[in-house]
Amino acid sequence: MKFQFFASIAAALCLSANVGAAAFDNVAPMSDTDGNPVNCHGGGILKVDSVYYWYGEHRPGHEANYQKGVSCYSTTDLVNWKNEGIVFEKVDDPSSEIQKHCTIERPKVVYCPKTGKYVLWFHHELAGRGYEAARCAVAESDTPVGPFKLKWSGRVNPGVYPMNMEPRQVKGIVPDEWWTEEWFKLVDKGVFVERDIDGGQMSRDMTVFVDDDGKAYHVYSSEENLTLQIAELNDDYNAHTGKYIRIFPGGHNEAPVVFKHGGKYWMVTSGCTGWAPNKARMMWADDMLGEWHMVEGKTPCIGPDAELTFGGQGTYCAEMGGNLVFMADKWTPKCLAGSGSLWLPILFDREGTPVIPFVTKW
Ligand code: DGJ
Repeated sequence: MKFQFFASIAAALCLSANVGAAAFDNVAPMSDTDGNPVNCHGGGILKVDSVYYWYGEHRPGHEANYQKGVSCYSTTDLVNWKNEGIVFEKVDDPSSEIQKHCTIERPKVVYCPKTGKYVLWFHHELAGRGYEAARCAVAESDTPVGPFKLKWSGRVNPGVYPMNMEPRQVKGIVPDEWWTEEWFKLVDKGVFVERDIDGGQMSRDMTVFVDDDGKAYHVYSSEENLTLQIAELNDDYNAHTGKYIRIFPGGHNEAPVVFKHGGKYWMVTSGCTGWAPNKARMMWADDMLGEWHMVEGKTPCIGPDAELTFGGQGTYCAEMGGNLVFMADKWTPKCLAGSGSLWLPILFDREGTPVIPFVTKW
């Protein structure tokens, strides 16, 4: 009953369900065209001609006790998803950065018109070091279905200060107590940017956004997950240019999802509560590297469980079948392979602010 209620809200908000049969089922577990459970998490979508490619984290499950790499599924009808296999594979060599016990999270693939390459960006953690490496990594392929080959893995923009921070105000300070008022001031002034300036900025949860003018940006949780940073990419989409900003210092945002609507850039993020769901936040800007504004206290989600993002955590916004789709993961940390997906419409109210209702099937 409550789902029908929200489906009718979606209809009232002019949800243009241009797809034929119900493409997205937000309750039943997803299977591929071979009848196997889909294993694709924290990922994103790339459309090439009429084919949608869905890339995501492969997670250990019945077929392997370690993460194999980045998985890919394809579809032309948004209903039947074909397993394209592991398109970026870790290697069975303990001396390699991408050895099988490293961690790959939040992979995103974009197509670079200049080079003709498909470029994969992901959050990369080195084997046996938990989340401390906090790197991003780039791999490239000549085809959307791989094989993607590692180009580099590392931190962001070593030696370069963000465009919107005054350097050397808090250089050399090592805060001894966290979460105090004094500590928040230090974070705001960039104490962790200074700490990491030589080796480069931390990069954990991330996405890549390609603007209408072809400029691409890497958006990532940095500075111990306390501050988001947005870094411009070069024309090959495979490195940073050195131009970057920090936004909402100390705001503790993860899982950035970026889209453009009505000339504005929107970002939906989560708070930092590990695998547990929390209340999504939203923010906007007129320019990707300009000033970002938080829509204070408001989540784009509406309806029951909206305060917990319907049990999910955002990962990407894709245009599919004429709709903007908010993709999220319903993490099940005891078996991450079994984590489910939410695919929800992004609608806009009269003021042009994003609204995400829960729709069972659409
Ligand atoms: C939340 C992040 O969004 C996930 O990608 C993952 O890194 C977990 N934290 C790990 O606890």
